[in-house]
Amino acid sequence: MTLNFAHRGSLTEAPENTLPAFQQALVHGAKAIELDVQLTKDNYLVVCHDHKLSRFNPSANQRIIDVTLEELKQIDVSAPFGDNFSAVTIPTLDEVLEDCPNDIFLNIEIKNIPVIYNKIEERLIHCLSEHNRFNNIVISSFDHVALKNIQTVVPSVPLGMLFYYRILNPWEYAKQSGLNITSIHPNHVYTDQHFIEQCHANGYQVYPFTVNKKERYHELVSYGVDGVFSNNPEIFSQTKA
Ligand code: G3P
Ligand code: MG
Repeated sequence: MTLNFAHRGSLTEAPENTLPAFQQALVHGAKAIELDVQLTKDNYLVVCHDHKLSRFNPSANQRIIDVTLEELKQIDVSAPFGDNFSAVTIPTLDEVLEDCPNDIFLNIEIKNIPVIYNKIEERLIHCLSEHNRFNNIVISSFDHVALKNIQTVVPSVPLGMLFYYRILNPWEYAKQSGLNITSIHPNHVYTDQHFIEQCHANGYQVYPFTVNKKERYHELVSYGVDGVFSNNPEIFSQTKA
C-alpha cells in the first residue's frame, strides 16, 4: 500500500500548512500529512514552509526567526483564498498535534535552510514528548545534521533523508551516515525503478516529492514506491486510466 501524503495539507482549498488545510485533507480521507516546521524568535515551533512571511501576507516581510509567536499570530494568511476563510493564522506544532488524530501518519519536515534554528531538534522532541506522538511519524530534513541531532536526543525516531538534487548512490550515503533512516525522500524527477530497487535492497522505503500528475503517480506506484507527496491528493483516488 502506498502512503499518500497530503503535502502541506489540502493546499489548493485552504492556506497551506494551516489547521483548515489539514482538516480538509482529513475530510478527503487523507491518511498521511506532510508539514514543515520553523522556530519563532521566542522559540515556538510553528508550521510553515517559508522562512519569511511575505508570500502569505505582502505587508509582512519579516523572517519567522525575527518575530515572536504573538506577533506571528497577528498575521492573517488566508488572503489568497478571499472570503472563504477569515483570520487563519500560522499554527504552532502544538495546535496541529492537538487537532490531528493519532492514526494519521505525520511527516514533520525540519526547515533548517537558510536559517539554522538553534536547538530546533530539541524543541521538536520536547513537543512530540508532550503529545506522546512518537508513533506513526517520520521526521525528515534536507539538513542531515538536524537528523543526526534528533537521533542524539531520541535514537529510535524514524528519520527521512530528503534529497533535492541527484547525488551518487544516496542509499549508500544513508547507510554510511549511521542514522536511523527508515525512508529516503528524493525529488521525484529522478526517481526511477532502479533508484527504488536500490533503496529497497538497502532496507529503505522511498517517498518522492512532489508528484502532482496522476500518470506520474501511477508510474511510481508501478515501480513499487512506498509513499508519495502531492499537492493534488485527488490523484491518489483516481484510477490509472
Ligand atoms: O517533504 C517533502 C517536501 O515537502 C520537500 O520540499 O520544499 O515542499 O518542503 P518542500
Ligand atoms: Mg516540506
